[in-house]
Amino acid sequence: MHILLAEEYDIGLNCNDHSIRESADSEYVSFWEGEARKLEWFSPWSRALEWNLPFARWFKDGMINASYNALDVHQKSKSAKPAILWEGEDGSSRRITYGQLLEMVGQFAGVLASLGVKKGDRVAIYLPMVPELPVAMLACARIGAVHTVIFSGFSAASVRSRIVDSGSRVLVTADGGYRRGKIIPLKEIADEAVSHLDVTCVVLERTNQKIHMNPRDRLWSELVASPLDAVPLESSHPLFILYTSGTTGTPKGVLHGTGGYLTHVHSTFRWAFDIRDSDVYFCTADIGWITGHSYVVYAPLLCGATQVMYEGAPDYPDASRICQILQKYGITIFYTTPTAIRMLAKSGSPDTFDLSSLRLLGTVGEPINPSVWRWYYEHVGKKRCPIVDTWWQTETGGMMISALPGIETIPLKPGSATHYIPGIDIAIVDEEGRSVPPHTRGHLVVKRPWPGMLLTLWGDDSRYKEAYWSRYPGCYYSGDYAMCDDDKYVWLLGRADDVLKVAGHRIGTAEIEGSLVSHPQVAESAVCAIPDNLKGQAIAAFVVLKEGADCRRDLAETVRRDVGSIAVPKIICVVPRLPKTRSGKILRRILKAIACGEEIGDTSTLEDPGAVSDVSVAFARCQVD
Ligand code: PRX
Repeated sequence: MHILLAEEYDIGLNCNDHSIRESADSEYVSFWEGEARKLEWFSPWSRALEWNLPFARWFKDGMINASYNALDVHQKSKSAKPAILWEGEDGSSRRITYGQLLEMVGQFAGVLASLGVKKGDRVAIYLPMVPELPVAMLACARIGAVHTVIFSGFSAASVRSRIVDSGSRVLVTADGGYRRGKIIPLKEIADEAVSHLDVTCVVLERTNQKIHMNPRDRLWSELVASPLDAVPLESSHPLFILYTSGTTGTPKGVLHGTGGYLTHVHSTFRWAFDIRDSDVYFCTADIGWITGHSYVVYAPLLCGATQVMYEGAPDYPDASRICQILQKYGITIFYTTPTAIRMLAKSGSPDTFDLSSLRLLGTVGEPINPSVWRWYYEHVGKKRCPIVDTWWQTETGGMMISALPGIETIPLKPGSATHYIPGIDIAIVDEEGRSVPPHTRGHLVVKRPWPGMLLTLWGDDSRYKEAYWSRYPGCYYSGDYAMCDDDKYVWLLGRADDVLKVAGHRIGTAEIEGSLVSHPQVAESAVCAIPDNLKGQAIAAFVVLKEGADCRRDLAETVRRDVGSIAVPKIICVVPRLPKTRSGKILRRILKAIACGEEIGDTSTLEDPGAVSDVSVAFARCQVD
């Protein structure tokens, strides 16, 4: 872990501005107030932070609008500047300026209003990576509707549960989306998702394939309305719900507010990426996940940046696709995931493209190991570009730990996300909540509120308290392990709970297990992560079948149907029984050890220690198969 990259980089406009950290640490609320003032407010707040632990309301009664700050504020100086340079999977492209984007958003806001959408109503969005996705989000924000974007890889059952939980009455979808040259039948999936629900569907024509139109459906192209202005909204007004997986139960509806969230993403984007007017920024995240919300849609637009948005799979038609895009658009700032970096490394393509426009690289979503970091630094950045390894979560709204080339110069250490963001107070603690010494693994907690912090879980304050605030009183529990070194650099060490990270996508064991046991021939199931060379982690499922059953081959399909293809296990292993404690709790730790070929550890709490050898034998056989 002690790899120090000697080269310091020097790229910030106002590098080494220590005053930022100092003022942020001593007066964090007024520090964030100063940051909030960099946005446009219709009227100021009377109190910067209302903190009724664990509920924080930032700039509560200040009036603001996200879409106004993303679009209207740029019209004077940047209406002809490209906001989105869109690259279709089929090689087609679109160039949308700030002026055009405002027009599209204003009009779609009018369309939503004409469909009866009012302030506070929820609107579900199930679209592929096309410019109409940010348009729909910003149109919601313009009129105070709360968007809930559903990743286009999710199944009908997942879409339905999110629509029902959020109480959305309008669903914005498309006739289809391109993925690896094939068309994902989004409309068909959406039809199944909303059957017998009182939901109006707006259908964007993306592929122009033949679709069945129901009385509830409206074609995007046929809906016309006068554009609407942005309405002033209270800072604490909800901007969006984004469902994410936790340790147990169904996905949680993480609810984010407006003024605090915008402040957080606006400032961190400037600090981490040192954004300048001439930059061409490219983030590969899908908007269906939090990185896409914060650092594809909101932050770049708040900053008036030009960005490239790519529709398809990063390795389609081959693994050089990302490099082609970097070269074609002269990308200067590139933000991606360790999985995509490993894919690039496997392809070898960065060495055959001209990537000289790049000046800054970023990574997010999973721990990046030092060798992958080094490869990224040498082969993509050609040893010229610093890498910002940004740690954060759906719940935090924006970056919490990252190097910040926009404000300070520090040496980088491959594999470390470096230091906390100014104004954020993080600790690494043991099971009892005491700070751990350097080089000791502990739980990452946040000790005071921050502006991008979730408001609550949609409709479930008690689950919010239980999930994040019950383990360490007064502190936010992140669910991640971390460690500090002697220089106070932070090293992220993966999840401490049962949340899986497959190709950077966050998936809960409970969702997959729930799907498996819904199969009539499955008696029990348990799922754990196994290391994967490309995706970081893959899923191993252990199932106990009912007497005489033989359905192993159907199970992958069951998970695909219930959750989506991203959740399909790489290994499905039929076992005679699962390792359990006397009280009946399944010990996933033991399954994980077997699947990863690690030391089994303590088995004294097992009701029947024989389960370990049963599972080991079944797993070995399963791998031979
Ligand atoms: O385990 C951490 C990992 O991703 C989790 C959050 O997932 P999600 O809510 O989907 O948000 C992902 C994008 C922000 C965290 O609990 N994670 C995120 N960034 C990093 C990371 N692990 C290590 N290093 C990172 N830079």
